[in-house]
Amino acid sequence: MQNEERNQVIEKTLYYVKSKFEGESTGHDWWHIYRVWKMALRIAEEEGRNVDLFVVQLAALLHDLDDWKFSKNSEPKQTKEWLEKSGVEKSVVSHVCDIVGNISFKGVKVKAEMKTMEGKIVQDADRLDAMGAVGIARCFTTGTKFNRQIYDPTKNLNKIVYDLRKNYSYSSIHHFYDKLLLLKDLMNTKTAKKIAEERHKFIEQFLDRFLKEWDGKL
Ligand code: NI
Repeated sequence: MQNEERNQVIEKTLYYVKSKFEGESTGHDWWHIYRVWKMALRIAEEEGRNVDLFVVQLAALLHDLDDWKFSKNSEPKQTKEWLEKSGVEKSVVSHVCDIVGNISFKGVKVKAEMKTMEGKIVQDADRLDAMGAVGIARCFTTGTKFNRQIYDPTKNLNKIVYDLRKNYSYSSIHHFYDKLLLLKDLMNTKTAKKIAEERHKFIEQFLDRFLKEWDGKL
């Protein structure tokens, strides 16, 4: 595929995904996809190695389309169909499907390792979006969707009860401890590690302040 043709595929994919995700409100909305796409491009550029930007962009844009939390298929069926329909080379189809099939966070104990640099980059970008100010906002939004309280001080903060299928945590603040605070150590690339450090600190500051306010200390 020529460059121009590739750009057209990216653009078409962008509109396809946008139409699929518009109106979604669990924190996995179109703007999440958009941020992951932008961040994946930034990481790819800063890493500066031989990264296939076509694969990175397609995987970033399609990474939540077949999310197993939302669809019953464990194979990224929609992604595969879309790419084949778009006339993308077989090797690219299988690379992108491999990435999107492996990307989601399945709990701290389940390692979803990415084999290629492109996969590592998209996974990092997706995980970074659950951190920092945006990550905090998303955490509470998802909390509403799953009927979580903002915080339940009667439950131990360090006891992990996260059930991913149900997206269950004692409260949204508990979800910081069973997911958000663990992401920093899961980054693959140097660039993402640096960004994650910064975002992690911000979450810690937020939690510190939140818990103090909760007890009327601030
Ligand atoms: Ni995502």
